[in-house]
Amino acid sequence: MKKEKILIIGSNGQIGLELAATLRQRYGQDQVVCSDIRALENQEGLFEQLDVLDKDRFYEIVKKHEISQVYLLAALLSATAEKNPKFAWDLNMNGLFNILDAAKEGIIKQVYWPSSIAVFGPSTPRVSTPQYTVMEPNTIYGISKLAGERFCEYYHQKYGVDVRSIRYPGLIGWKSAPGGGTTDYAVHIYHEAIKNKTYNSFLSAGTTLPMMYMDDAIRATISLMEAAPESIKIRSSYNVTGMSFNPEEIAASIRKHIPDFTLGYAPDFRQAIADSWPQSIDDTEAREHWGWKPAFDLDAMTAVMLNNIKA
Ligand code: SER
Repeated sequence: MKKEKILIIGSNGQIGLELAATLRQRYGQDQVVCSDIRALENQEGLFEQLDVLDKDRFYEIVKKHEISQVYLLAALLSATAEKNPKFAWDLNMNGLFNILDAAKEGIIKQVYWPSSIAVFGPSTPRVSTPQYTVMEPNTIYGISKLAGERFCEYYHQKYGVDVRSIRYPGLIGWKSAPGGGTTDYAVHIYHEAIKNKTYNSFLSAGTTLPMMYMDDAIRATISLMEAAPESIKIRSSYNVTGMSFNPEEIAASIRKHIPDFTLGYAPDFRQAIADSWPQSIDDTEAREHWGWKPAFDLDAMTAVMLNNIKA
């Protein structure tokens, strides 16, 4: 059997950095090509500069490395997208079309594309939000993710494209920094707890959101991609979750390690985004179809986050 050759687009972002390391460990250094709009100063391993909107360059890289599998992670997240809606739409949608079209043409075999809890909106039931429910997102990011989900399913049904997707909740890890999301506070809070023993949250007290520790997110992503095609019954995107908490609860978890940690509040425009999203997610389908099960709860995540940031 020919080994998959993987291209990660947006490999230097929050998910990309961790996914690249795990995929290289799992499949071998030479099986994974990283790409991003800019190289890092100390970029490691196979790397190609790529703007996902440059279709010719994308095809050139696919040909050069005989790529069979693409993880498309390049996108503007919720907060950044609100500041630049036209560009967010262009990047999030046309980036996806370039990859889906290559799969439709048979040039690549398999696509991973992340969706988000942002596909839900203020009219969605907010507690234990089910896989199938009202979806009226009111952020540009959410609108682009919902449209993307519809196109993934469409390309699968019409053209047989093997595209797989997860609706990520807020992702929290210590190896890479988040960029431009509404859930980023839950990463910043750990760094500030170690550095200054205090944090000013841009989301208000009581703002409960679904979240996941990064190791769980990477494991979910790879299990979905490795699952037998017949077990993947949803080709839009799967609900998955790890835990749900609000700023007070994450602060309480931090205080088990840093008793004098203090939390203040200075909500900004991101509060309205958070208020439009679910508080918790029902991921029954992911559990039943391809065996999803999270390993980290809030306290387990807090312990690893604080230990690693300290080190
Ligand atoms: N973490 C993302 C954001 O806040 C949600 O997909 O934008």
